Amino acid sequence: VRASTSAYSDELVKTAKTIASPGRGILAMDESNATCGKRLASIGLENTEANRQAYRTLLVTAPGLGNYISGAILFEETLYQSTTDGQKMVDVLTSQNIVPGIKVDKGLVPLVGSNDESWCQGLDGLASRSAAYYQQGARFAKWRTVVSIPNGPSALAVKEAAWGLARYAAISQDNGLVPIVEPEILLDGEHGIDRTFEVAQKVWAEVFFYMAENNVMFEGILLKPSMVTPGAECKDKATPEQVADYTLKLLKRRIPPAVPGIMFLSGGQSEVEATLNLNAMNQQPNPWHVSFSYARALQNTCLKTWGGLPENVKAAQDALLVRAKANSLAQLGKYTG
Ligand code: 13P
Repeated sequence: VRASTSAYSDELVKTAKTIASPGRGILAMDESNATCGKRLASIGLENTEANRQAYRTLLVTAPGLGNYISGAILFEETLYQSTTDGQKMVDVLTSQNIVPGIKVDKGLVPLVGSNDESWCQGLDGLASRSAAYYQQGARFAKWRTVVSIPNGPSALAVKEAAWGLARYAAISQDNGLVPIVEPEILLDGEHGIDRTFEVAQKVWAEVFFYMAENNVMFEGILLKPSMVTPGAECKDKATPEQVADYTLKLLKRRIPPAVPGIMFLSGGQSEVEATLNLNAMNQQPNPWHVSFSYARALQNTCLKTWGGLPENVKAAQDALLVRAKANSLAQLGKYTG
């Protein structure tokens, strides 16, 4: 049994604790080239490397970002990229006291034999890629797989998602990267909050079962769950207090206190909704660091404000800092709107 004696054990624990530090959370800026292309198209920009570089330079150089952000998840391109004025993106992040991370999964493909569900690729060659990412300065990793409620989820899809996450987590730790474990339960659907709760219980039970079987060291992982909410098309809406109650109940039933940080995804919630829900969760005592790892809920206004124009960079960075600070306060349970 290797995991708990891995050469990196102490470093993994330290990295996870640094990322899960009070008042800070993660900026997810690891959009694949295809997804980044959609974001750029929304402001009328072409999906070129230069435009992706300009946008990501804006994000990582926002002054004082490290006061609110402890880690930034990068797409492979950005891990090896320089800013528009020639500094390595990873060096800029490190100088801001932000730990660089890397998306290591290879995306979703159809899961044959399921109810039109998907599975996540990327285990082949993962050990050598992870070692190279560590050399390049990454200290944590992300693997996002999805579970769809309207399409089932089938027992097959849940098992595949959980097993893939567990294998990835073990391989990441063996190479010095803290794995972010992310089975995203998609918001899509008309189901109510109780159904989401039921599915989430099943998913997290399996994820932890297989992580234990793979000797993953729980002190050196971070989780990235979806909040427990009604489906996006459900006619009943939930208040932040309801979301917090359901989500904390789920965490208490399924997540050991050895896990240092729970970094929620925003999953299509509005910027303010994501902040209010996080703040509500931090009104109650809990044994973890309950925080954020948002992409859209940190970037939406920032991206729109920028609009691809150099003269808007400062205003766009200010917009990013407004959301980062609001979520920092929400992590402390002190957001007042
Ligand atoms: P959203 O916060 O936009 O859901 O993205 C988070 C993320 O990284 C999903 O993998």
